[in-house]
Amino acid sequence: MWYCHRRVGTTVISSLPLVYAIGPQTLTKRQTDMSDELEQTLAQHRLTHVVRFSPEQIAILAHATQLGEEALARTLLPLAQQKSQTPVSGFAVGAIAISGSGYWYLGANMEMAGQPLSTALHAEQSAIGHAALCDERYIEKVIVSVSPCGHCRQFMHELNQDDLMLVLPDQHFTLSELLPHAFGPADLQQTYGMLNGPAGNLAAANNPEVDPHDALMLLALDEANASYAPYSKNRAGVALQLSDGQICRGRYLENAAFNPSLSPMQLALSQLFLLGYQPQDIERAFIVEATAKVQQAAAAKQLLASISDVKLETAQFGDTNVKSEE
Ligand code: THU
Ligand code: ZN
Repeated sequence: MWYCHRRVGTTVISSLPLVYAIGPQTLTKRQTDMSDELEQTLAQHRLTHVVRFSPEQIAILAHATQLGEEALARTLLPLAQQKSQTPVSGFAVGAIAISGSGYWYLGANMEMAGQPLSTALHAEQSAIGHAALCDERYIEKVIVSVSPCGHCRQFMHELNQDDLMLVLPDQHFTLSELLPHAFGPADLQQTYGMLNGPAGNLAAANNPEVDPHDALMLLALDEANASYAPYSKNRAGVALQLSDGQICRGRYLENAAFNPSLSPMQLALSQLFLLGYQPQDIERAFIVEATAKVQQAAAAKQLLASISDVKLETAQFGDTNVKSEE
């Protein structure tokens, strides 16, 4: 499976735009209430910058700390919080999504200076979006450093898993305990969930708008085909090419209640920060989307323009731009 690795090396804080430099969470150990022992164990196993833990890595940490799953996950939350971008609130939230495959995905909140508050991404969305990008299909637990807000409860309801466990700082609940009498996919006759819907069939071959050999466009197209847009049919994906050759991806994850939907550009930018990059690392940006009653490109352009001078390349895929039946 393709995975976007963080760059080795440290970020030069002094070269960052002011808006990123002032976020205290990225610069200090203020929110790191991790035990020295855990920090040492992470360092010893070169796990300090990991944002996706394999089952083997978790087993090492569990053995070293003698902590059970939930206690260990709570202890690791500061690692996620350190990735938060909070130019507006200064309030760093961390989350970990534990998938059915045993991988742990970190997520952090991301606020966009100069943009409406509705462009903020919550830590829970960041962690679940992270798992989605690695093609996880089932989330067992989400561990959060604060009680999940209503918007996040609604977002997570789209997983279509009433047994989803939410681990709060002091207790845990199932999602249905925290969101009783919920409105969700079933109300719109939708039977599958956000991570297990059918793949799309958009294809580059017969779309004159795109160069079918453009690798970045093809990655954005893959994300569009893997996206979840059952209500609008606006499948959409983003790929960001970074100066060291790595790619950050984002895919659209829609919601029955519409507003908690996660846009592909939000997810791609959340990945950028999670993986230790900065906006100036972006060299090219591409969005692919299906022609539908709603569209992503204008909002994605605006969001990208708020942190980067790179022009967003766009491509629309209509009804005729689909894979031919075999
Ligand atoms: N926040 C989350 O990340 N998750 C929640 O469920 C609660 C709120 C973030 C959003 C915003 O960046 C900051 O916390 C203040 O609301
Ligand atoms: Zn929330």
